[in-house]
Amino acid sequence: MKSMRHLWFLLLVSLPLGAMGQSTTPSDKPADFLTKEFHRQRREQLRQLLPARSVAVFFSAPVRNRANDVDFHYHQNPDFYYLTGYKEPNSVLLLFSEKQNINGQATTEVVFAQPRNPQAESWTGKRLGAEGVKNQLGLAAAYPNTDFNAFKLDTASLQQVLFFELPHDVRNEERDRSDLYDLLAQFKQKVGITNGKSFAHQELYNAIRQYDARAGQQVQQEVKRQMEADPALANNANLKDYVAAKDASARAAVVARIPKEKLDMSSLEEIMNQMRETKTPEELVLLRKAVAMSAIGQLEVMKAMQPGMSEMEVQGIHEYVYKKYGAEYEGYPSIVGAGNNGCILHYTENERPKLNNDLVLMDLGAEYHGYTADVTRTIPANGKFTPEQKQIYELVYVAQEAGFAQCKVGNDFQAPNQAAQKVMADGLIKLGIIKTPEEARKYTMHGVSHYLGLDVHDRGTYGPFKHNTVITVEPGIYIPEGSPVDKKWWGIGVRIEDDVLITNTGWENLSKGAPRSVKDIEATMAQPSALDDFKLPVLK
Ligand code: GLY
Ligand code: MN
Ligand code: MN
Repeated sequence: MKSMRHLWFLLLVSLPLGAMGQSTTPSDKPADFLTKEFHRQRREQLRQLLPARSVAVFFSAPVRNRANDVDFHYHQNPDFYYLTGYKEPNSVLLLFSEKQNINGQATTEVVFAQPRNPQAESWTGKRLGAEGVKNQLGLAAAYPNTDFNAFKLDTASLQQVLFFELPHDVRNEERDRSDLYDLLAQFKQKVGITNGKSFAHQELYNAIRQYDARAGQQVQQEVKRQMEADPALANNANLKDYVAAKDASARAAVVARIPKEKLDMSSLEEIMNQMRETKTPEELVLLRKAVAMSAIGQLEVMKAMQPGMSEMEVQGIHEYVYKKYGAEYEGYPSIVGAGNNGCILHYTENERPKLNNDLVLMDLGAEYHGYTADVTRTIPANGKFTPEQKQIYELVYVAQEAGFAQCKVGNDFQAPNQAAQKVMADGLIKLGIIKTPEEARKYTMHGVSHYLGLDVHDRGTYGPFKHNTVITVEPGIYIPEGSPVDKKWWGIGVRIEDDVLITNTGWENLSKGAPRSVKDIEATMAQPSALDDFKLPVLK
């Protein structure tokens, strides 16, 4: 259907009136979204972490254009969603550390929301409007975004205004005076951000505050490097002092006097990282579901796979399983790479017409009510590993087991990575693929873990593991064609990726529903599939 930006208002005159303002019955939506109480508690926790006399400002994600008058499916800024449950664009959320008087109401929170518009809604879907944001999402105060311009943000009484880096690539809709582009401009004017104002030093201040105690000398090196590269940083006195500090106590003295500035573009990240790193029970219900259905997708594909299938078809089977379970999207672009394509870490073309007898690396994750899985299995298209494929596969497998064993509360975030990398380096030497451990990273290019949640690479502090944290454990070995090794290894790319919940009582593999050992994979691939008899007419 063609519509939207340019022509919809002309076409509308021919629409029957009955099509407008249709009401949504409760059964139109799943009943297991995060509750308003969840979002309210998140806002409450954020307020407790805010500095005194401050405000945290969040903008909705930009609408992204795909081509001409078609936009990409809208995806809310995960922080905004986490704090409100609101999924619409062109909005701004302000959370104050103390109550403010807003239009005679004492409140710590206010949303400026996309206004209701029956004509637009009959094309692009229902909007909550300010009333809906109050009544359905439970925000204490909400106004149409058209009121943001006149809203007085009392910056004189605030000690800090916290916000994320403001996006520069936002489209200004001519006919809309309160779209995200305008809201950003209005915000800059309220707080006095002028063109060319640089916040680059704040990111370094933040890195220094967060990491000096743990890795001071590396931070010093990085600050020095960035000061040399960016003239806006070169003359910053605090950074100069930090770089010149001779030892840990001299560095600590500089850290203690680095100021928190009134317009602060970096502290909010620290707060949100801390909050989103650990999951509440309500979040874990959704995350478990996203991961479980993704594992079942892997299992169904194992049964269905044939060497004559295409990468795209395999992708379609996974994604069909997610949709069957009610997942709205994929958490990231699906990766299905046969043979050498499996050696491209984020291969997303998925356009090889036949898998043949190659290994197929499949890295896919369902996104269910905002929470995304991230599960990889690597399987032989014909159901049987060759000896070389099996040797590499089993090396990655034992590396992953070594990584799992490090998933303990209190362990350093890097512990699974270090354990898995060591196993892979030793194993690659044994197989004669490399000679020294240092060469291993040529074939094991990526780290083994990241946090998982509303984002596939989720927010977190990257400090010691905490209770109720979900991470991936995903070692991989990739030997692309042309590598300086025996040709028998060429085109073998293996990643095994599972999603692990770490708690005070141990770790749990949330994606264990996807067969993982050579034996289990081969046994599963020998099973019949519901798709064996699914035949479509051949197209000319
Ligand atoms: N699917 C992206 C990743 O594994 O990090
Ligand atoms: Mn991952
Ligand atoms: Mn992945």
